Amino acid sequence: MDMLRISGLRKRFGDKEVLRGLDLTVPENSIFGFIGQNGAGKTTTMKSVLGLLKADGGEILVNGERVVYGQTATNRHIGYLPDVPEFYSFMTAPEYLDFCGAIGGMDKRETSKRRDELLELVGLREETHRVGGFSRGMKQRLGIAQALLARPKLLICDEPTSALDPLGRKEILDILLAVREQTTVLFSTHILTDVERICTDVAFLHGGTVRVQGTLGEIKSRFGQDEYLLETDSEAHLTAITGAFPAVRRGTGNQLICSVKDTPAFEVLGFVSAHRIPLVKWERVEPTLETMFMEVIES
Ligand SMILES: Nc1ncnc2c1ncn2[C@@H]1O[C@H](COP(=O)(O)OP(=O)(O)OP(=O)(O)O)[C@@H](O)[C@H]1O
Ligand SMILES: [Mg+2]
Repeated sequence: MDMLRISGLRKRFGDKEVLRGLDLTVPENSIFGFIGQNGAGKTTTMKSVLGLLKADGGEILVNGERVVYGQTATNRHIGYLPDVPEFYSFMTAPEYLDFCGAIGGMDKRETSKRRDELLELVGLREETHRVGGFSRGMKQRLGIAQALLARPKLLICDEPTSALDPLGRKEILDILLAVREQTTVLFSTHILTDVERICTDVAFLHGGTVRVQGTLGEIKSRFGQDEYLLETDSEAHLTAITGAFPAVRRGTGNQLICSVKDTPAFEVLGFVSAHRIPLVKWERVEPTLETMFMEVIES
């Protein structure tokens, strides 16, 4: 079953129409990357899923149940890490999780057990300082632990890595990968390399709608331009090739990029062979999400 299904979601703020009929389907057990530029409407979408914003149209189903604005029934399936999580700075991490368990009506013994498991998972088990002294990365990790406390079926994280350095980002991504066994993960981001590292599924949000959605593999094969990288040993040989095939582009150093769309790769190889040009490298260029995203937003 789909863990989250959004259809035709509309939302405007004043005369600004932010979501214009957004459709999104998050399959169970996926790690779903929700990609969009600043202001695209990622947070607006997530808050609508949580029933915190009143949509102007459309339907949202969480685990098959309809979300109703202002009601929290569907939120029992969801753990949420907001874009800027707030904590009581005077508490320690275990105190904070105990507090969240208590206000969530969880059994005390169950909370203690889950608290220790989660602190271990997010690498804060040995941490005795108060949250006020935590780094941003530590706060995000505690926020994920808090979001997972009640064993949600769906974990929603709003830009969990955006404010972090590469090491802090890696720590968060590793945690999201590790929790995949327990829960479906939906996270928003504009850092495409993070998505490529851990996501099974992605959606590009642009202009108020989801432009492209699918598994990472599907999207790569759909959008991937067939390109080859050719490297030879000298400027003279490069010039010979570009002279014969004007559509071949210069890369870095002694490299050329040959797009199959413009120039059949085997003709280039035939030319290289006929002129006995030494090849240092000939390889297929893997399309990146970055190039696909640019293609989507420019279309
Ligand atoms: N409460 C509000 N009142 C008026 N406009 C709003 C409100 N909330 C969001 N917006 C506008 O809606 C648009 C989408 O905002 P949203 O925060 O959903 O984008 P986002 O994709 O999360 O961006 P970011 O990457 O910066 O977090 C923005 O133009 C924003 O200014
Ligand atoms: Mg946002």
